[in-house]
Amino acid sequence: MGKESILVRGNRTLSGEVKISGAKNSALKLMAASILGQGESIIQNVPDISDIAIMSDVLRRLGATVTRTDHSLTIDTQELDSYSTPYELVSRMRASISVLGPLIGRFGQAKVAMPGGCQIGARKIDMHLVGLEALGVSFDVDHGTLIATTPEGLKGSQVMLEFPSVGATENMLMAAVVAEGTTVIDNAAREPEIVDLCNMLCEMGAKIDGGGSVSIEIEGVPLEDLHPCTHTTIGDRIEAGTFLAGGALTGGPVTVQGIDPDYLRMAIMKLKAMGCDIACGDDYVTVTRSRPLMPADIQTLPHPGFPTDLQAQFMLLATLAEGTSVITENVFENRFMFASELMRMGADIAIEDHHAIVHGGQTLQGAPVSSTDLRAGAALVLAGIVAEGYTTIYDVEHIDRGYEDYVGKLRSLGADVSRAESNVRA
Ligand code: EPZ
Repeated sequence: MGKESILVRGNRTLSGEVKISGAKNSALKLMAASILGQGESIIQNVPDISDIAIMSDVLRRLGATVTRTDHSLTIDTQELDSYSTPYELVSRMRASISVLGPLIGRFGQAKVAMPGGCQIGARKIDMHLVGLEALGVSFDVDHGTLIATTPEGLKGSQVMLEFPSVGATENMLMAAVVAEGTTVIDNAAREPEIVDLCNMLCEMGAKIDGGGSVSIEIEGVPLEDLHPCTHTTIGDRIEAGTFLAGGALTGGPVTVQGIDPDYLRMAIMKLKAMGCDIACGDDYVTVTRSRPLMPADIQTLPHPGFPTDLQAQFMLLATLAEGTSVITENVFENRFMFASELMRMGADIAIEDHHAIVHGGQTLQGAPVSSTDLRAGAALVLAGIVAEGYTTIYDVEHIDRGYEDYVGKLRSLGADVSRAESNVRA
């Protein structure tokens, strides 16, 4: 059990404006891309969360210097002299695998500990390996460490991904930018974070067309043509969607500021279908609800489909809706643990394979619950805000991985939440 917990007093409402942090799932990869820059890059709008601290340690272990000034990271990879990342760092954060592509790009080789699975699934990397092998990379596994070499050098190739894997697309991009010749990645991931990475790589001198589309074309350039840059991370659409769900839960109005509404089109479509009113500007979204919550059927899919990282938050909304919703998780094989925690609070959910049948109209009661992954944990705090009585969420280190000052931001919206030392589970 984690050291800290979050205590929530129920029957509260959320309203006001909250500033969204930079996107965790972009910043981590932008940091990895700086490996290709061989000098001092500055990445701005980087959230102050534990996953970023771990990635900073990974880069330092490789020989880089990483310093934070407020929400900017200065990363100097001039002196990078290692292409090997140890198990104890990779095991702490799966996203460390994102250094595989840039290390191969820079050194022609890499040694990266195989990432383990996690709460939400096996999290395999087979598509990363198949994609990189198509570019001329050879892999061996030695006692849990992945050993990558490029006997004939990196060669451009036309590759089709079996599934639009975010991580596989990113690792291939960061190797292909210095491959000899042209690479085309078909069935590529289309997430906004992919576009952000392509933009930074182009600012570093890479030649990439089609970022954000199903087919990305990369014209390889010599490594020495790539240079450091200053880049600003996009807003975190999942953090924004989490707070919008909070506003929808209690009626709002809640405004998330510092996010491109275009990143949230599917989530906004579902909020409207569930009875919310939405107002958007260039960099903000406001949610208000004056009508009863309506049920909705949700299929999680790769972008631009409904994001799996908002599945738990919308399952909570469905619990309070007047009717039955069906939520289908198509991206991860085991991402319904949140449902069992929510049922401890009074939700009525039946799990049938990849489907969660949510019988709405329930009143939630506060209870001690555990955060199984960072998105489930964030949703459990929201559940505590609308529940009757008190809720304690344990294992909050999961939440701290991806949400900067989650308690402080919720308090600014009127929630009665606080962090506490969790001595014993009630
Ligand atoms: C990224 O994970 C995000 N993490 C996840 O966010 C997000 O849920 C996911 O993309 C989907 O959008 C980061 O960016 C750090 P995938 P990633 O490769 O890259 C399977 C959060 O809450 N797969 O698109 O690991 C895989 O097991 C996290 O912030 C293979 O089978 O996602 C999963 O079931 C959770 N073989 C599915 O594909 C592979 O080689 C999607 O994985 C690669 C993936």
